[in-house]
Amino acid sequence: MGTIKIKDKIFAVSIPDAKIQQEVKRVAEEMNRDLKDKNPLFLSVLNGSFMFASDLMRNLTIPCEISFVKLASYQGTSSSGKMKELVGLSENVKGRTVVIVEDIVDTGFTMQHLLAKLMERSPKEIHIATLLLKPDKLQVDLDIKYVAMHIPNDFIVGYGLDYDGYGRNYRDIYTVVE
Ligand code: IMP
Ligand code: MG
Repeated sequence: MGTIKIKDKIFAVSIPDAKIQQEVKRVAEEMNRDLKDKNPLFLSVLNGSFMFASDLMRNLTIPCEISFVKLASYQGTSSSGKMKELVGLSENVKGRTVVIVEDIVDTGFTMQHLLAKLMERSPKEIHIATLLLKPDKLQVDLDIKYVAMHIPNDFIVGYGLDYDGYGRNYRDIYTVVE
């Protein structure tokens, strides 16, 4: 009980649904306070952040917009290092408060790349919100304003996060069992 099998790997529940919801709500409340008068544009980075973005939005009570963008692909259990173009952004971000909504910051290279791409479009400011942060793996200097949860260095799935495309559908977060 509490374990799932995806392809060759077994995963066990490490963060239950209720804990995720509690931390997402906390982050949303911080945003409701900080961004009340800023008309923020939330940019959810697909695919991984769709559940986080959805639950976050349900807890936001301020005027805001959301859009969905796509960037890097990720295969297997380590970051590929290859960066794709920013696609899907039709909104004019010039002069806006932008909040990037990510599922997880691991090495931070994806986020660094995304920040550089967005900066080209002259927003007023960019804040980073991530569901998960692996602080031990972070390799670049990032100012991450909103973190729902800090996690150890292990590979996880569930709540939007995948292993080779599978596992995104679970409402709990699971860690790989060695
Ligand atoms: P970074 O560029 O190393 O920070 O990697 C960020 C991306 O890698 C995330 O957006 C995820 O798509 C993916 N990723 C990193 N760690 C995990 C994990 O433990 N499970 C699933 N995907 C992960
Ligand atoms: Mg991602």
